[in-house]
Amino acid sequence: MAKDVLGAGIIGCGTFCTEYLKTLGPVYKNVKVVACSDIDMDRANKIAKEWGVPHPCTTEELLADPEVDIAVIVTGPGSHYPLTMQALKAGKHVYCEKPMALTFEQADEIVEYAAAHGLFVANAPDTFLDCGLQTARSLIDEGEIGKVNGMTINFVGPGPDLWHPTGDFYYKRGGGPVMDMAPYYLSALVSILGPIESIFCYTNRAFDQRPIQDHVVDVEIDTNCCGVLRLKNGVIGNINLSFDVVHARQPYFEIYGTKGALICPDPNTYKDGLRLIKYEDLKEKALAIPDYWDRVAYIDSPAPMELYKDIPTPKPIGENHRGMGINDMAECILHGAKPRCSMYMSRHITEAITGFSKSAATGMQYFMKTTCERPDPIEY
Ligand SMILES: NC(=O)c1ccc[n+]([C@@H]2O[C@H](COP(=O)([O-])OP(=O)(O)OC[C@H]3O[C@@H](n4cnc5c(N)ncnc54)[C@H](O)[C@@H]3O)[C@@H](O)[C@H]2O)c1
Repeated sequence: MAKDVLGAGIIGCGTFCTEYLKTLGPVYKNVKVVACSDIDMDRANKIAKEWGVPHPCTTEELLADPEVDIAVIVTGPGSHYPLTMQALKAGKHVYCEKPMALTFEQADEIVEYAAAHGLFVANAPDTFLDCGLQTARSLIDEGEIGKVNGMTINFVGPGPDLWHPTGDFYYKRGGGPVMDMAPYYLSALVSILGPIESIFCYTNRAFDQRPIQDHVVDVEIDTNCCGVLRLKNGVIGNINLSFDVVHARQPYFEIYGTKGALICPDPNTYKDGLRLIKYEDLKEKALAIPDYWDRVAYIDSPAPMELYKDIPTPKPIGENHRGMGINDMAECILHGAKPRCSMYMSRHITEAITGFSKSAATGMQYFMKTTCERPDPIEY
């Protein structure tokens, strides 16, 4: 008999897996968690006990379990590609944390294998499916800010040293702000404005060693990236990603058009809300200021921030927690829907994030080989 709820098996019972355990079943009803594994069996047993997961086991046992339809991989980045391939070869659909893989070639192999075997693959983040970013997209599609020509993305901060209990992997191959954080911003960007055409970037690192909790980690990758992007539709923008900045006042994600500018919710934490300024409102306010220098000061200063209007959304921004993408995949498997978190978009994002380091290493622009469709919008 055909299933009406799919079984998810969580591989990797560390810090972040609980975000999925909170939602798969309780919030997202297409899926329930039926098994969990970890290379450290104590962790798998602990999570199973705390969250009522019926089958704590090894990864081999999880992948042999007929109750598991979707392998949900929540391990560190270096194991994403081998575990994804292992799960696909066991006949399971895969939802894996970001990044999809450490190289474009690995991402390509995953997509080719899954496509040839009729299996679904998707990768975190799924935050672009949230109501705030979906509303931003519909405003842009409706022409609210006119023709879009620019954007800015900035995730710059002190890195995970002060909050992640076992965060060494952030400073090893597969970690760093580009591999770790760019997928949030690029998924949101591509879902709103479409695929990327080319990338240029410089990278460096401020520290060769980082103190994490009670020990010191050798930094193996660059931790400060300054890049620019051009999309296939001609939109250009900058992207700053850093673990080397104590604190900064830069917008997470803004999109600029001929008639207005949109402050979008941060695709990582949903901070900043959704706010819009229209050129006509700025013009009316500015032209009412008679003094030349006062008018210049008003336009050039942060004063026009008062003109940004909060955009109401059908549901609270950030209400949808992690797990939406898995539910979306389950909907496709159960009812034949078209995936919004598609493996083609994941591959495109993986090519882009690995393109950053290729550009930095060669001092040349990186031209994207892949493309992808914008995922279908969600009606909230
Ligand atoms: N911690 C966060 O706030 C956060 C947020 C978003 C995304 N993520 C992503 O989630 C993933 C996991 O992050 P985390 O913070 O939970 O890391 P973590 O180190 O706390 O947990 C990872 C777990 O995976 C297990 N593991 C490692 N290799 C394995 C393998 N081959 N087979 C089975 N188990 C294995 C480890 O023993 C550990 O228990 C990363 O890709 C990270 O980027 C984390």
